[in-house]
Amino acid sequence: MSEVKGRVARQTHVGIPPGLVEEEHGREAFAGPVSHLYRSQPPTAWVDVDGPLRPLAFDLNGLAPADAEDPEGWRSLVLSNGDLRVWISRLSAPMPFAYRNGDADEVVYVHQGAGVLQTDYGPLGFADQQYLVIPRGTAHRFVPSEPTFLFVVESTAPVTRPDFGLMGRHAVVDPRVLVTPEPYEEPPADWTGDADGRWRLKVRRRGEWTTFRYPHNPFNAVGWAGDLSPYRLSVSDIRPVTAPGYHLPPSVHTTFRCGGFDIATFVPRPFETDPEALRVPFFHANVDNDEVIFYSRGDFFSRKGIGQGWMTLHPAGVQHGPQPGAAEAAAKLEGTSEVAVMIECVEPLQVADEAKAAEHAAYTTSWARGLGLLD
Ligand SMILES: [Fe+2]
Repeated sequence: MSEVKGRVARQTHVGIPPGLVEEEHGREAFAGPVSHLYRSQPPTAWVDVDGPLRPLAFDLNGLAPADAEDPEGWRSLVLSNGDLRVWISRLSAPMPFAYRNGDADEVVYVHQGAGVLQTDYGPLGFADQQYLVIPRGTAHRFVPSEPTFLFVVESTAPVTRPDFGLMGRHAVVDPRVLVTPEPYEEPPADWTGDADGRWRLKVRRRGEWTTFRYPHNPFNAVGWAGDLSPYRLSVSDIRPVTAPGYHLPPSVHTTFRCGGFDIATFVPRPFETDPEALRVPFFHANVDNDEVIFYSRGDFFSRKGIGQGWMTLHPAGVQHGPQPGAAEAAAKLEGTSEVAVMIECVEPLQVADEAKAAEHAAYTTSWARGLGLLD
């Protein structure tokens, strides 16, 4: 039963009555039972928050791994729950060992830098604004040619790609744009191993590290066949779905499905052209999901005061939505230039201690400040 009470828009996300904002209160992200509330003030206009539940913003540019020889030291943990872990990696020199994740698949978003990912399957060159997807159990070694900034998401469930249903098998990401490695004819000559003539492979399984030593370069596969391998996806190959007359929910930008969470990519795209249609995301209450966004490029059109290399976390149970002025700014533009990576997960996330130091507390009340309710 769908009810209509009081002052509402005639259609959802279209022709919002002047002076009101629309808030989506829905289950299962954007797919479950839902109502829309038409409020006279944004639900995010609180002037004070007392308690653990609040929107968070982090400047991750200052996070740097401490020690490249420490297996955990080439990454800084940012967020975790039972289904995923988020890391920042700032490699500027080749890894001195190869690494195999026995616990999780990895989705690596290259925010900055370039180089080669050496793997059991062969090399994959990489550059900024590309994803590298590395299935669990794949030995690999990052060989950067310049300083890198990697946003790494580990998934305990296999990483798959979404089914776009009625839009067909080639929608958004055509499988033909995915690049898989060509096997090595000879093991990569740049990796000469350690001074003792051994090559190290460090494996993480159930959170514990084991080091295997070989008397030869372990990237020695000269062929492979099958449907499991690492691959690369360039953000520029993503063909986003938009609609001229209707603001589609963020879930249409899903790039990877990972069991208890999804990873979406916001890429440059035109705004809705119908003057009645909403151009910025509607306010929504994350009833069932924590939401993480990593901001990589462009002007993120619904957030102010957020720079490249920043990350926001909107935990389930507290609303979020566009900053004051975002709708007016969007009205003057034909599209958005943003590139951002979003994670929507079911299990609550823990913020790692290292990341807590990078938090910018002013973000929590940034909506009220934008409305002039706070100095
Ligand atoms: Fe959201």
